Amino acid sequence: MNVSDAIQRRRSVSLFDPAYKISDAEVRELVEAANLSPSAFNIQHWRFVWLRDPAVLGQASEAVWFQPQVTDAALVLLVCLDLKAWQKSPERYWANAPAEVAKHMIDNTLQTYADNPQLERDEAMRSASMAAMTLMLKAQDMGLESCAMACDEQRMADIVKLPEDHALCMVIAFGRALKPPYARPGLLSVEDVLVTDSF
Ligand SMILES: Cc1cc2nc3c(=O)[nH]c(=O)nc-3n(C[C@H](O)[C@H](O)[C@H](O)COP(=O)(O)O)c2cc1C
Repeated sequence: MNVSDAIQRRRSVSLFDPAYKISDAEVRELVEAANLSPSAFNIQHWRFVWLRDPAVLGQASEAVWFQPQVTDAALVLLVCLDLKAWQKSPERYWANAPAEVAKHMIDNTLQTYADNPQLERDEAMRSASMAAMTLMLKAQDMGLESCAMACDEQRMADIVKLPEDHALCMVIAFGRALKPPYARPGLLSVEDVLVTDSF
């Protein structure tokens, strides 16, 4: 599937076929694709929690206000972010770069985020959101549908024992849709969203 088709076809599915299963290899393929997403200073802040155990999924269902995707989809990933990834062995983000480039980028990273928790969070959230979109487009390419979802963050954090220095981005359910999506309910025009030079 080409990228334009994947963008056109991706819709948020509300009813997934509970009988449809996906393999561990497919989950790996999705995450490998997500790892290719752009990220601030190549920090790759995203972390994915595979909600797999039926007991965990049952609890997660409450955290998404009982929307059926979490219990019916073939795969549920919680897209998280490591807010402090910039401090954690940053040399691994530049392992294949020339030494002088690596040093420059690491020094710059450490300087940028020191004492700037707002930027630290914003950039980690941007990067994780990029990975979330990659997951959904890659899923489309693999013949899977998806649905990005919000959740009760405190409840979900408790369920997955989210570390103190991590945050939640979104839940994404993947699988086969039980019925085709509604027509797009209300799409803004290019004129509504494209501003030239300044507001
Ligand atoms: C951050 C975020 C949170 C969302 N939360 C939910 C949700 O809780 N339940 C749901 O069914 N869809 C959710 N959606 C999907 C949106 O409703 C959907 O993307 C929007 O209506 C446009 O429809 P489309 O994705 O089919 O084009 C969410 C999407 C995003 C990006």
